[in-house]
Amino acid sequence: MTRRIRKAVFPVAGLGTRFLPATKANPKEMLPVVDKPLIQYAAEEAVRAGIDTLVFVTGRNKRSIPDHFDKAYELETELLEADKLERLETVREIIPPEVACIYIRQPEARGLGHAVLCAEPVVGNEPFAIILADDLIDDGDHGGCISQMVEQFDRHHASIVGVQRIPAEHSDRYGVVDVEPVDSRVNQVKGIIEKPSSQQAPSDLGVVGRYILSGRIFEKLRETQPGAGGEVQLTDAIAALLADEPVLAYEFAGTRYDCGDKLGYLQATVEYGLQHPELGPAFRRYLEQRG
Ligand code: UTP
Repeated sequence: MTRRIRKAVFPVAGLGTRFLPATKANPKEMLPVVDKPLIQYAAEEAVRAGIDTLVFVTGRNKRSIPDHFDKAYELETELLEADKLERLETVREIIPPEVACIYIRQPEARGLGHAVLCAEPVVGNEPFAIILADDLIDDGDHGGCISQMVEQFDRHHASIVGVQRIPAEHSDRYGVVDVEPVDSRVNQVKGIIEKPSSQQAPSDLGVVGRYILSGRIFEKLRETQPGAGGEVQLTDAIAALLADEPVLAYEFAGTRYDCGDKLGYLQATVEYGLQHPELGPAFRRYLEQRG
């Protein structure tokens, strides 16, 4: 596997039941953190990593995501006429014009693995990235989590899953890997299991929503039967891929917020609010005053 990572898949067709009723008529990936929807942070992360084709796997309530990335002629004209040029800049070119956005429909929410399989006709047989927008990752000045992983891919030419250390009692929320260390932050995956109990977990390394996978994953996904929660699990297909190819686990630098969960979402909102160039100082004062 020596090819460049050109495509990123964004599965955005989940039901988002943990966030109801906010997600009743809107995908959770459109929830804003301060002033940007989660999906825009994810798309910007991919573009920063040199990815030029963004493949969104959408489901019910699909319209707001393509609308968000489309040109909004009426809004732009009104902002221009009202001389609101700064605001105009925030809606213009959310994605650079040379980057293609492709939308595919997952007809039924049959699991993350099934959503990824829906992208096969666009991705084909090349290595590609997967970004779960509800995992928001702040990596400071490191260039973005997926950029870090593309760098590792260029070095090792193997599939890579993004991992972080997790408390044992949270093992049943993650895919957990069994590993052998290779290098600083890089481990060889020997096994992977979806949502194990703390007793079954093979390590404290949980997979978060960043992957670079070989095109062969599609072959494995086609053969994967529904697993945990009755859903087609990407983790099970990665376990099958391991029999044919090496897979690495990369401990990315940065902080991840699980924005599919209400507490994680609120934490992200506070941290991104504090870092916001215009809002940050006033928000900090507000938090300090209220103690
Ligand atoms: P989650 O496991 O967070 O599931 O999906 P969910 O349905 O979105 O949310 P809850 O647990 O009911 O609150 C992880 C990622 O996979 C996508 C989701 O949109 C999310 O980005 N996904 C999941 C799909 O695209 N299709 C599916 O069938 C399931």
